[in-house]
Amino acid sequence: MNDTVLLSREDGVAILTINRPDKLNALNSDVLTALEAHIATAVEDRSVRCIVVTGSGPKAFAAGADIAELHTNDAYAGRLFAERGQRVFAALERSAKPVIAAVNGFALGGGCELAMACHMRFASENAKFGQPEINLGIIPGYGGTQRLPRLVGIAKAYELVLGGEMVAAQEAHRIGLVNRVYPQDELLTATVAFASALAAKAPLALTACLEAVQISGDTSLLEGLHAEANLFGRICGTEDFKEGTDAFLAKRSASFTGK
Ligand code: COA
Repeated sequence: MNDTVLLSREDGVAILTINRPDKLNALNSDVLTALEAHIATAVEDRSVRCIVVTGSGPKAFAAGADIAELHTNDAYAGRLFAERGQRVFAALERSAKPVIAAVNGFALGGGCELAMACHMRFASENAKFGQPEINLGIIPGYGGTQRLPRLVGIAKAYELVLGGEMVAAQEAHRIGLVNRVYPQDELLTATVAFASALAAKAPLALTACLEAVQISGDTSLLEGLHAEANLFGRICGTEDFKEGTDAFLAKRSASFTGK
């Protein structure tokens, strides 16, 4: 495996670090290959219960698709290029484990799209978000035109995708793109602490929460409520449900096993 993405583990959390700081962690083909492989490893590893994605160095989470690679695309290659990135990012979004982006600097173009494919985004105060593809004469291709309006609303999404300007972390927080903002030197510790807290919760219930919330974006209220009731019933059949409610009634803390 190439070393453009690093995988480490801490307290039930897998940390994926994009590792091209000299190129502001631009997402080239090697990064997508490594990211895809490490996502699969983290998802399959039973000791991992939550995933954090971040960038190495003090400046960037990821400054976008690698423009040096991108600029050789013709119409056919461009479509494949977009579909590949979309497939890798979908593996994060559809993961059975919660995924948090720790956005430690520029999250532009594909970097912003990668962050948006994660379930939550925690950012450092110096982070900057944007879809600047329009300035290169193209459009977002890794999900930006679809996930951005779902997160911030259509009007703001038009402004960002058409204007191509960056927004700072606090503004990204205000418009709902970012969940939390931390000082730069606290971001990763705080994100991993939150991820570790999730890792201690009932894994099957976490997965069912992810599934239910994802369905809300894809279906009608009626169908969504139906799916929620089905998932609720399924989770009521788990040992962890019994453990969680027994522990509450016995005034002790619960110990979940994932069964
Ligand atoms: N693809 C390829 N290389 C990139 C890159 C990208 N998306 N973003 C940055 N880099 C490279 C630069 O070419 C430079 O490489 P070099 O040192 O070999 O010349 C290095 O990363 C540092 O970037 P630099 O532009 O010198 O840093 P800066 O602090 O002056 O500017 C940015 C930072 C983020 C404003 C600027 O790099 C930028 O605009 N990047 C492109 C963002 C973008 O359009 N993303 C969408 C792509 S579809």
